[in-house]
Amino acid sequence: MNADKKAAGGQPATLPIDVLVIDEDEAFTETCCRLLEKGGYRTAVAKSGAQGLQSVGSQHPGVVLLDLKLTGMNGVEAISRLVKIAPAAVLIVITGQGTVDLAVESMKLGAFDFLTKPCEPDKLLEAVRRGLNLSMLRREAESSKASAAEQAHPPDKYDLLLQGLDVLGEAYSMGIEKRQLLDELAYLENEAKYHAESLGQIKKKERVILDIREDLLKTDAILKKYDFQKNSLIQVLLDVQEKFRWLPRHILNWISGRLNIPLREIYVVANFYEAFSLEPRGRHIVQVCTGTACHVRGASEMLTRVSAALGIQPGQTDDKLRYTLETVHCIGCCALAPVVQIDNQYYRDPSRSKLEKIIKEFEKEEAQACLA
Ligand code: FES
Repeated sequence: MNADKKAAGGQPATLPIDVLVIDEDEAFTETCCRLLEKGGYRTAVAKSGAQGLQSVGSQHPGVVLLDLKLTGMNGVEAISRLVKIAPAAVLIVITGQGTVDLAVESMKLGAFDFLTKPCEPDKLLEAVRRGLNLSMLRREAESSKASAAEQAHPPDKYDLLLQGLDVLGEAYSMGIEKRQLLDELAYLENEAKYHAESLGQIKKKERVILDIREDLLKTDAILKKYDFQKNSLIQVLLDVQEKFRWLPRHILNWISGRLNIPLREIYVVANFYEAFSLEPRGRHIVQVCTGTACHVRGASEMLTRVSAALGIQPGQTDDKLRYTLETVHCIGCCALAPVVQIDNQYYRDPSRSKLEKIIKEFEKEEAQACLA
């Protein structure tokens, strides 16, 4: 007999069972379980209807073999109750009282099969095999129904309260008081508003919050890359500059907190290196060379043309954060003078129409990227 099999009502089996046999006939249950276990099924026995109901609820068998002749419980009543308790379990009636009427009634109540004793072993094994397959399908259907129901339920205030309680519990366990936590959240919300306003962005409150959260997560990914080490501050700032194209205030504040470095020290570093920008920069950097060679060959006129084409003055970034226009001193290709560098490309004294063509190309690329 299966080592895990115990009579229902005793200690529960340690592993889920395949077949529960509810029958008072000990000789039959012995033979039946031996046969099923030989077929590779895990079994359990209940010696009464009451034990069977209890066992179905606790052991979740795939198939229940039920004798209709039970002390203290009508067999038909047992079927009705079993179907309700374990809708995924497949019920096979196996009885010595096989009449057509009883078989029809059993099937109507939800039994899957009706076998009469004595039953041929092959017939029993086949019925159990089919029953277990059906039970598996029922369980899968139940679980996809549950997950669909879960998805259909939109998060509401009470879900948020549960999440809030989780956070509060964790905060207390870290020695952080509720007031302190709320102050920090209010501070981050103000930073998020300030950031959106400083960029002239009009967004819904929740979008502002979600955007700053995303920024902080990206910053954390950079900090993690350097193991949150204080001495990697410059590298962290370089990565932030590359990712965001500038060093926004809320990110510097976050780095200050995460690395435990005073904010003013971070600003000293950010102001010292030319690679860093404390102002928003466009997705495309346009650099007009005003070095000597370019100057004598008409850099001023070229700068006026570029500025007019972009609609911004040197040192400015357009409202959509698309372009930043800068002047630089010699970009190392004086032979092309006067020259403008747009991202990694050099253009020799571009005409207004050439500039407009370049701008249109960028806009087309961005539109395609948005659709992708
Ligand atoms: S002066 Fe303009 S590239 Fe050298």
